[in-house]
Amino acid sequence: MRVLHAAAEVFPLVKTGGLADVVGALPRALVRQGADVRLVLPGYPAIVDAVLHQKTVVELGPLFGAGRVMLRLGTMPYSHVKAYVVDAPWLYRRAGGPYQAADGSEWPDNLQRFALLGWMAAHLAAGELDPDWMPDVLHAHDWHAALACAYMSAHPGTTAASVFTVHNLAYQGLFSPHDFAQLGLPLHFMQSHGVEFHGQLSFMKAGLKYARRVTTVSPNYAREIATHEFGCGLDGVIRSRGGDVSGILNGVDGEVWNPATDSGLAARYSAADLAGKPRNKAALQKEMGLAAKPGVPLFGVVSRLTAQKGLDLVLAALPALLRQGAQLVVQGSGDPVLEAAFSAAAHAHPGQVAVRVGYDESLAHRLIAGADVILVPSRFEPCGLTQLYGLRYGTLPLVRRVGGLADTVVDADEGALREGRATGFAFDAATPAALEAAIERALALYAQPQRWRALMLSAMAQDFSWDGAADRYLGLYRSLLSPRE
Ligand code: ADP
Ligand code: GLC
Repeated sequence: MRVLHAAAEVFPLVKTGGLADVVGALPRALVRQGADVRLVLPGYPAIVDAVLHQKTVVELGPLFGAGRVMLRLGTMPYSHVKAYVVDAPWLYRRAGGPYQAADGSEWPDNLQRFALLGWMAAHLAAGELDPDWMPDVLHAHDWHAALACAYMSAHPGTTAASVFTVHNLAYQGLFSPHDFAQLGLPLHFMQSHGVEFHGQLSFMKAGLKYARRVTTVSPNYAREIATHEFGCGLDGVIRSRGGDVSGILNGVDGEVWNPATDSGLAARYSAADLAGKPRNKAALQKEMGLAAKPGVPLFGVVSRLTAQKGLDLVLAALPALLRQGAQLVVQGSGDPVLEAAFSAAAHAHPGQVAVRVGYDESLAHRLIAGADVILVPSRFEPCGLTQLYGLRYGTLPLVRRVGGLADTVVDADEGALREGRATGFAFDAATPAALEAAIERALALYAQPQRWRALMLSAMAQDFSWDGAADRYLGLYRSLLSPRE
């Protein structure tokens, strides 16, 4: 089984969120199960500089405004997964993020940048760029790679099947309809049953319409996006695909997120020996300038600061949390209003609230290891990974019951506690009162160390491995290869 993954981020080279974690881990898990997997990635400086042993596969003339495009094949560092690097210096070799400049503005040529990624992926899938390797399945991730599905559909000779995974329907890759002519797709693709979306050109819709199968990163999110509430205007399109849409839950990369081997921690620990966990808490309190009190419950947040994540609820619930003596540590970056609000809270409550604005992978590990509870009160959450990392690290997730959060956290209600199934805390309404009530329930259990410890152990016993997810993806790929009835 040959599978080509097309994506705009990959851990540890380029990461803005969970997409990178998935693209870093899933191909390796598929390889472990015997699949022949390659990646195709934009040649940002961090990719061009890090992918090992690159050899030119083909050199192409002007494409999407790039004068010269080199396709190189190399090997990912830290794994043996092969990766095609689309080296188009004019489009990708610049300082800044994968989608935005350092000042937070979208790159003005994102249409060309990600059309090229999709075009390359589709032409690799058609066997036109690398005569030595042709995939059976092209698996495109999020809007950045979605156009590959349209190019494949427009290309009559392609035998490979396409799978499109929605990691987040809220980011759609919308462009002016006048840009359509640049894509080189047949005119009829720019219609309401194609990539046209309320007068605009939608990359996301290219994936939803033209992929043979569409997946989302949790079963619950697959159901949610078929509704008006979560469909971001595309619920009709999702519904029209019927049984072609399904959810496969993300996993945890145990090589990266494992408290027993995590070299960045103050102390390593496991379910069999929890002694290191309080040492991580003490180290985190010290690092963040919080009062060094072992018995005080410590709530943590590691998140992009965007409306999606519901962190305005945390700000609203903060007085209640502080009244009960708890501590809060927040690590995140994004919306300047939220950054300023959390910074002001830290300033107003020294020793009890600490905030680190910015992106720091190693602090994320120390925070998740050191906190008692990880807060994920999202308004919507396709899967969510930080609650999975929390489970693994015995840091109980307190989540809103949406998307993948609902699929992965079992609320500590009386029944679940009695049966030993509980792994965290979940609430329904996106209101400060509902969050506060969940926090109160968490604090009540925290005051009973035996019961808290039992909860930690059942959280740590959860198995959200990539091997299970890879198995399900392989099943899906195989179903596409078997002759259709
Ligand atoms: P999303 O992809 O919507 O941001 P996920 O929970 O799927 O949400 O994944 C977020 C990933 O990004 C996790 O690996 C998390 O640890 C990481 N992350 C988020 N914010 C930060 C930050 N400020 N610093 C370091 N890592 C972060
Ligand atoms: C998106 C979603 C997040 C998910 C991640 C990886 O960024 O917001 O919920 O976990 O993709 O699939």
